[in-house]
Amino acid sequence: MTNLIESYTAYFNAKPQFIARAPGRVNLIGEHTDYNGGFVLPMAIEQEVSIALVPRLDSTVRLFSLDLDLIAQFELGALLHGDGWDEYPKGVADELLKAGFRLNGFDGVITGNVPRGAGLSSSAAVELAVARAFCASSNFEWDAVQMATICQKAENHWVGVQCGIMDQMASAASRKNNALFLDCKTLAIQNIPMPANIAVVVMDTSTRRGLVASAYNERRRQCEESARDLNVEFLRDVSWLDFQNNIGKIKNPDALKRARHIISENERVLNTVDAMRSNDPFRMGKLFNESHISLRDDFEVTNDALNQIVESAWEQDGCFGARMTGAGFGGCAVALVEKEKARAFAQAVGAAYKHRCGLEALVYLSKASDGASISKC
Ligand code: GLA
Repeated sequence: MTNLIESYTAYFNAKPQFIARAPGRVNLIGEHTDYNGGFVLPMAIEQEVSIALVPRLDSTVRLFSLDLDLIAQFELGALLHGDGWDEYPKGVADELLKAGFRLNGFDGVITGNVPRGAGLSSSAAVELAVARAFCASSNFEWDAVQMATICQKAENHWVGVQCGIMDQMASAASRKNNALFLDCKTLAIQNIPMPANIAVVVMDTSTRRGLVASAYNERRRQCEESARDLNVEFLRDVSWLDFQNNIGKIKNPDALKRARHIISENERVLNTVDAMRSNDPFRMGKLFNESHISLRDDFEVTNDALNQIVESAWEQDGCFGARMTGAGFGGCAVALVEKEKARAFAQAVGAAYKHRCGLEALVYLSKASDGASISKC
């Protein structure tokens, strides 16, 4: 933070007034269910995006990226599409304006340590930090759910990624030491305390895949196709029993596999919440493992590296369960581990993964953190 404040002073020759921050997230369970109106259970992580800022009285935004060493400048009255890193801030500004907010610009310096393309929602963290910055510069009240929805629209409309609402909600509304149980149809949230005896371990395969957006959008279309065949608005509206009784209505075999994942995954989220409430890490872990297998075989969004790292985790002492997390195709997996064994686990998984596929993994313990916030300097 000192670095950010000093950089602001060096760049703008003044002291910043506010620090806006918003975290990345790791999804514990409920993968690809959000755009099917289903259930998800992410938690915010310690890695975050921060913006040091001073509000302006006009409609200019000047935002210096410390990590890229690049300045972006735009006028709120004349937002234009481009192809730089500042598409996220512009998209957020555009959706805030469309929602009727009267915005003032700001001078800001932005920095972040959420790894990009790793499935930990670095883009949602940027969006929510920018929304938090506008909230301070323009003096409106912060409504986490409304801001998450606006940031999702920015990503859908301005950036062109058809993501669901999970990442933005996790970044906006998470609470320290809690997972965020979210119903993506109603946007109702419940904070579920993390059991004290469990460590959440993030395992970054260090693989990244391009073309994630097109594969993602294809999965979305296949889910919509199966929902149409089943005559419902969202796959969320179908219970496992209904699905079994109507399976013949889904014509396309790929759409059927996608539906089987979504409908079973929704049940797994509900069961995981139940297991958390009754402090049953073994049951949680089993549900994690089932989720991974379903994502691997039915939703087909894992890659070899994700399967290898998850299998490496399953082999270790103290591991309750492990699964890929985020959109998939590369990036991170997540494991639930007995707290006292977590450090040894992290080392052993790194070594086992390297032995299996020759790649260096980044494996670390993660703590459930607070959602977006603002502080005065
Ligand atoms: C990405 C999207 C989310 C969600 C996940 C998969 O992170 O941004 O909306 O669909 O993939 O669960």
